[in-house]
Amino acid sequence: SGESVPHGPLAGRTVVITAGGTREPLDPVRYLGNRSSGKQGVALAEAALAAGACVRFIGAAMSVAPPAGADVTRVESTQELLDAVLSQAADTDVLIMAAAVADFRPAQVAEAKIKKTDDGGAPTIVLERTPDVLATAVRTRAAGESMAPVIVGFAAETGDATSSVLDYGRAKLARKGCEMLVVNEVGTDKVFGQDLTEVTVLFADGRAPLHRAGTKAEAAGVVIEAVAAEVAAGP
Ligand code: CTP
Ligand code: CA
Repeated sequence: SGESVPHGPLAGRTVVITAGGTREPLDPVRYLGNRSSGKQGVALAEAALAAGACVRFIGAAMSVAPPAGADVTRVESTQELLDAVLSQAADTDVLIMAAAVADFRPAQVAEAKIKKTDDGGAPTIVLERTPDVLATAVRTRAAGESMAPVIVGFAAETGDATSSVLDYGRAKLARKGCEMLVVNEVGTDKVFGQDLTEVTVLFADGRAPLHRAGTKAEAAGVVIEAVAAEVAAGP
C-alpha cells in the first residue's frame, strides 16, 4: 500500500507544542504583547513531526507560518492558551511550552476603545498576574488529572553579578516542577527573531545537561531527541 506509516523515535506519540507570544487585551483594539517570533516552536514541531510524532501546535501571535503537517490551534491571550493546553494536552505524551507567555495583563479590559480626554491626561494601566500555564499543567497532573507525562519548559535568561544563566535555569526548573527545561541565554541581539541560538537542556532528575549552539532547527533536534529518550524511558 502507499500509506505512509510514521516511523522514528516518536512514532505513535502525541506531542503538544505551544509557540509565539501571547497578547493581553487592553480594549477592543489594543493589547500588550511581546517580540516572540514563534520560530523556535515551529522548529520544534518540525523536528517532532520528523521523529514520527503526531503534533498539536498551539500558536499565539507569530511572525512565521505555523508548521505544515501539525494540527494547529490559534490563541491570543494567556487565558486562551491555558484553556487550549488543558484541553489538548490531556491523553498526550509530551507538552512543550515554547510560547512566550505574558506575566502580567491589564486588570480591566475596556469594552469600548479608550479615548483621549480634553485635559491632556493619560490613563494609568493597572496590571495583574496571568495564570502560569506550565505550572498549572504540572499541578493538574499532580492532582491525578490526565496530562502529558513529559512536560518541557523554556526559559530565556540573562546572567548577572550574583547568578549565572544556568543557576537561574536550575532554580526555575525546580520551581516549575516539569521534567526538562530548555535554557536560552539572551542578550540584546540574541534569540528574538534570530535563526541562530544556543540552548542548554536541564533535566529534573539531575542528569548532566545537554548543550547546543547552532540553528533553531539544530537546537530543536537536540530537544526532541532528549524528549524521545524521556518518553521511551517511561514514567
Ligand atoms: N510560562 C507559562 N505561563 C506563564 C509564564 C511562563 O506557562 N504565565 C512558561 C513559559 O512558556 C516557559 C516557562 O514557563 O516554558 C518559563 O517562562 P519564564 O518567563 O522563563 O518564567 P517565569 O516563571 O515567567 O519567570 P520570570 O519571572 O523569569 O519571567
Ligand atoms: Ca515570564
